[in-house]
Amino acid sequence: MRLYFSLGCEDRVAIFEDHFELTPSSERPERMFGFYLMYERDLLRLCHADDGKGVSITAAEISKRATHDLELARACGVRHGPSRCTVLDVMAGWGIDGLTLQRLGCDVTCLEQSAVAWAMLHNLIERLGVNEVKLHHTDAWCWLEQSREIFDVVYLDPMFPERRKKALPGKRIQYLAQVVSGLEHDLSDWISKARSLATSRVVLKRRLRDPEIGNPDWRIVGRSVRYDVYRCVG
Ligand SMILES: C[S@@+](CC[C@H](N)C(=O)[O-])C[C@H]1O[C@@H](n2cnc3c(N)ncnc32)[C@H](O)[C@@H]1O
Repeated sequence: MRLYFSLGCEDRVAIFEDHFELTPSSERPERMFGFYLMYERDLLRLCHADDGKGVSITAAEISKRATHDLELARACGVRHGPSRCTVLDVMAGWGIDGLTLQRLGCDVTCLEQSAVAWAMLHNLIERLGVNEVKLHHTDAWCWLEQSREIFDVVYLDPMFPERRKKALPGKRIQYLAQVVSGLEHDLSDWISKARSLATSRVVLKRRLRDPEIGNPDWRIVGRSVRYDVYRCVG
C-alpha cells in the first residue's frame, strides 16, 4: 500500500518505510485505486480512491469514550489509586479501547498484526503524546506464546463476523475489516492462551447476541456490545 506524505514530513514517516511505499503527495496520480494512507500535518488517515477524506481517530473521541464507556472500565476492573492496572490489548486495531483504558489510568500494552492498523495507532499515540503506551507490531498469538510478562487484564476484541442484517457497521470498522486478516485460531484457544498471562481476568468483547465462548464468570452488557469476563486466579 502507498503512504503519501506532504513535503517536509519525510522524517515523521520514515518509521513506516518497511511497510509502505512512501510517496510525496505531489506525486499522487489523478486516478487512484483502492486504499492508501495519507500523512498531512501530523495526522495519518486511511483513505480510499472514492473517499479522499478517509478515516482517523481524534483525541477528543478517546476523551469522550473515557468519560462515557463505563462498561469497558467495569469489565476491565479499572481501579483508581496508586497501583495502576496493567492491561494487554491483544488485538489493538485503531486503539480506541486500549487508549481509553490508558486515559482511565491503566498501563497499556497494545499488540497489532496489521501494518495499516499499527501505523494508524502509532500515529494516534504520537498525537496524544502518550508515549508510555507500548505498541508492538506483531502476531499476538506468537507474542503470547513467547512473553514472560504478565498483566492484570488481557483484553480481546476480535473483528465481529459479518452479519446477514442489512445495516452496515460504521465506516471505520468497514475499512478496518477490509485491510486486516481474520483470526487464525478459535476464540476458545485465544481465551486459554490469554489466561496464561492474566492474573486477574480475561475480557472478551462480543456483540450483544453472540453466543458465549466457554463459561464466562460474568458479563457486562452495554448498548450494542457486551464484555464477557473470565476470572483468573493469579
Ligand atoms: C475489532 S479490531 C480491534 C478494535 C479495537 N479494540 C479498537 O478499539 O480500535 C480487531 C483487530 O485485531 C487484529 N488482529 C487479529 N488477529 C491478530 C493477531 N493474531 N495479532 C494481533 N492482532 C490481531 C486485527 O488486525 C484488527 O485490527
